[in-house]
Amino acid sequence: MTTVRSNGQRKRVFIRTYGCQMNVYDSDRMADVLRPLGYALAPAPDQADLVVLNTCHIREHASEKVYSELGRMRDLKVERRAEGRDLTIAVAGCVAQAEGEEIAKRQPAVDIVVGPQAYHRLPQLLAEAERKTAILKAGKRLPGAGVLDTDFPAESKFDHLPAPQGVRAGSAFLSIQEGCDKFCTFCVVPYTRGAEYSRPAAKVLSEARQLVAAGAIEITLLGQNVNAYHGEAEDGSTWSLARLIHALAEIEGVARLRYTTSHPRDMDDDLIAAHGEVPQLVPYLHLPVQSGSDRILEAMNRRHGRDLFLDIVDRLRTARPDLALSSDFIVGFPGESDRDFDDTMGLVEQVGFASAFSFKYSRRPGTPGAAMDDQVPETVKSARLHALQALLGDQARAFNASKVGQTVPVLFAEPGRRPGQLIGKTPWLQSVYADGDPRLIGSIVEARLVEGHANSLAGEIVTGSYGVAA
Ligand code: SAH
Ligand code: SF4
Ligand code: F3S
Repeated sequence: MTTVRSNGQRKRVFIRTYGCQMNVYDSDRMADVLRPLGYALAPAPDQADLVVLNTCHIREHASEKVYSELGRMRDLKVERRAEGRDLTIAVAGCVAQAEGEEIAKRQPAVDIVVGPQAYHRLPQLLAEAERKTAILKAGKRLPGAGVLDTDFPAESKFDHLPAPQGVRAGSAFLSIQEGCDKFCTFCVVPYTRGAEYSRPAAKVLSEARQLVAAGAIEITLLGQNVNAYHGEAEDGSTWSLARLIHALAEIEGVARLRYTTSHPRDMDDDLIAAHGEVPQLVPYLHLPVQSGSDRILEAMNRRHGRDLFLDIVDRLRTARPDLALSSDFIVGFPGESDRDFDDTMGLVEQVGFASAFSFKYSRRPGTPGAAMDDQVPETVKSARLHALQALLGDQARAFNASKVGQTVPVLFAEPGRRPGQLIGKTPWLQSVYADGDPRLIGSIVEARLVEGHANSLAGEIVTGSYGVAA
């Protein structure tokens, strides 16, 4: 396959990422696969030879965005062809998996559709697309090559992807688990990502060591159901997430460990205990509950009730008293009454969340929820979302305000908008703005928090505090 343009320049790829952190990780890995083929990263589509849209299918709005973006990419392709050049358009991610054939029909300019389990096959798909394009161009036709790979291959993509390169400013994602067998009735993930799969423990540990060697001091373990992790260990035993966290904490240079996203059903005793035992495990947990109503939790097939969630929260806070919680909520699931919604508001009041994501229920084709009676009208969903977000917003502000006056370790990640300003994260995932030397990016520095806002805090770096070097 040609990797160098006729004018001698290297090829460039632009990757746009939608959706969750799994997709952010996957986008980095696609860049890793393409790099040996000669592809450098382009900052914008108009400077790229290959555009990859790494898509999300979770809500209708997310999927529809992809088609409008594809329309823009088609226009760019037409302009390019007029100049006698090419633009290869690839659709990856969960929309690719769920709507592969439909994408090619709705937007014929698409060259490649590749599902999340087939990224290691990108080189072959690109070669095939180039061949097809050459044939189509000879016939003066515009359409894309239309190469499709949405199989769930028998071989794991993890065994075929090159070593990760992407450590940004001391922080790295590490995917340890993929797929989901839970089949919540609202959710497309079991269909787009396939069955649950845990990477072997030794593979995870060696990737973590590589990330640390590449400058990571914070590692976020990723999985659609990360706490369902049950990876094979070298001695043939099975490691839980708690066991894995203990082992990762022993790697020298790992200052912070996070994991996301968890399911309440899989918060076992050892994992809860780990929050009190492993100092590197941050005192912050994203634990989606979706609803506070037992009736709705059951209809959602969440396989736990409100009490289990409240009990887990109590036990977590006993293990780690400064633990802050975040969650996901869906309002307007089919059949949700005012009373059910009040139960959700009551649960939020009772727990107190440091941050949260909340969504109107979106009817996803092929999921059991989409076929349920008693769909909730849009206006009701909007009113409930508004009320819930007002409460969650108050709680986030109160949480940020509660940290004002404290001196906390901040991992600085990037320059701020104002010259001389840096942006970093506290252990509780709050954004902190502080003036500081850009050389501090990628290290953990003590900062005194001086002002709290809805989504961030202002801080002052404590002079003389030593950074944990990246
Ligand atoms: N595995 C995680 C969630 C993954 S999806 C868990 O089990 O909680 C991320 C979030 O998107 C979900 O927590 C849910 O709040 C939201 N979501 C998923 N499907 C949705 C739908 N059909 N409509 C609205 N929100 C949805
Ligand atoms: Fe979706 Fe439920 Fe699986 Fe989470 S646990 S990914 S919400 S099916
Ligand atoms: Fe979206 Fe797929 Fe993640 S549907 S939320 S990108 S797993």
